[in-house]
Amino acid sequence: MAQLWGGRFTKQTDAAVKAFNDSIGFDKRLYRQDIRGSMIHARMLGRQGILSEEDCRAIEEGLTGILSDIESGKLEITSEYEDIHSFVEANLIDRIGDAGKRLHTGRSRNDQVALDMRLYTRDAADGIRRQILHLLETILEIMEANTETFMPGFTHLQKAQPTTLAHHLGAYFEMLRRDYTRISDCRVRMNECPLGAGALAGTTYPLDREYVAKELGFDCATRNSMDSVSDRDYLLEFLSDLSILMMHLSRFSEELIIWNSNEYRFVEMDDAFSTGSSIMPQKKNPDICELVRGKVGRVYGDLMSLLTAMKGLPLAYNKDMQEDKEPAFDAIDTASACIPLFAEMLRTIRFNKKAMEISAMRGFTNATDAADYLVGRGVPFRDAHGIIGRLVLHCIDQGKAIEELSLDELRTFSDRFDEDVFEAISLRTCVNRRLTAGAPGEKAMEKEIAASRSWLEAQA
Ligand code: ARG
Repeated sequence: MAQLWGGRFTKQTDAAVKAFNDSIGFDKRLYRQDIRGSMIHARMLGRQGILSEEDCRAIEEGLTGILSDIESGKLEITSEYEDIHSFVEANLIDRIGDAGKRLHTGRSRNDQVALDMRLYTRDAADGIRRQILHLLETILEIMEANTETFMPGFTHLQKAQPTTLAHHLGAYFEMLRRDYTRISDCRVRMNECPLGAGALAGTTYPLDREYVAKELGFDCATRNSMDSVSDRDYLLEFLSDLSILMMHLSRFSEELIIWNSNEYRFVEMDDAFSTGSSIMPQKKNPDICELVRGKVGRVYGDLMSLLTAMKGLPLAYNKDMQEDKEPAFDAIDTASACIPLFAEMLRTIRFNKKAMEISAMRGFTNATDAADYLVGRGVPFRDAHGIIGRLVLHCIDQGKAIEELSLDELRTFSDRFDEDVFEAISLRTCVNRRLTAGAPGEKAMEKEIAASRSWLEAQA
């Protein structure tokens, strides 16, 4: 028996319809969740006196056998079944007979699949949260070692003001920390148990929904049974979170690609995390970053598919909802493949500190500080801005940095310049005097890093 229904039908399902309708091809990965949910459902039916102890025991044993046979490869999940729920139930009936036929008492596939997906997504969310923590640890270690690695900070991809590698990577630390807490928030709303909602209107059996919820690690049972079987908000939220996370990884990738380019040479990727060209022998390409950047599109697409699938659905369950699985699985698979690879790529990257520092010195990133120097000597900021602007123009013409001009030359632009200007506009001074909270100055940065370190440790 491959099908759970058929009594009211007089014809076999058309083969093309069956293939179109079946979901076992992709929902087979829910077998663990399905079996676990069935186990607790049966136990609850037993406790409530709805099933005999004997039947309960037979069901538990049967389900345990199915689980271990699937895991050992002895039992293959084959495509003659409609979905994973049918597969497990049909197998159980084959193994234990009539007791197996009692498992579905007080349950519908609608609340069953709602439960399975929540259990699966909750595990996925926890897995991805762990992966993010690992990536955060990798970033923080690089930050800790690079509070004095100077580099240009950019706006419009034009050199703007000097900063440090620790400060630049700290921005990604913040993005990914938000991704982590966002997924944690979403997990709270996800963690309610829909089992017991039945097809849509609950059931006449005296189910103990709170018991089931607790046994399955949920905070509580869901409240409205129609909503319980037709809610996919938690998935939409999770896919939104994954989309934002992937967007962050994509931005990070883009920067590393730029930094790895022949022109920048700020970083060198490890050979084990780069690939070559079939024709150009000199090539070493940052493919991991490019693939991560490319895969974002899939995750956005997955989110958009699910949003669109849900948008016109009347209450309660509709078969459209079967379309939640492939995008959800794809987004989860994609994100969870990207995060650890990205972390490893980052851990093995070599930062070319000299090139970063030279680049910071070469781009007039100290122009604001030169203006501030004049402000300190009584020049109004707007005038100082104009003076330094003309000075920069002169330097471009001469092919020199501001600090490479002599004091006499500087004085032709303003008589307020003195010998101490060179110290005032040195890279180290420019960075380390930026001490507002969140700024790159070493003291400010060390404070942020220490706070991030204790936050990270508190999550473990
Ligand atoms: N395969 C279905 C899904 O993924 C399971 C629920 C089926 N329920 C139903 N009434 N046909 O949504």
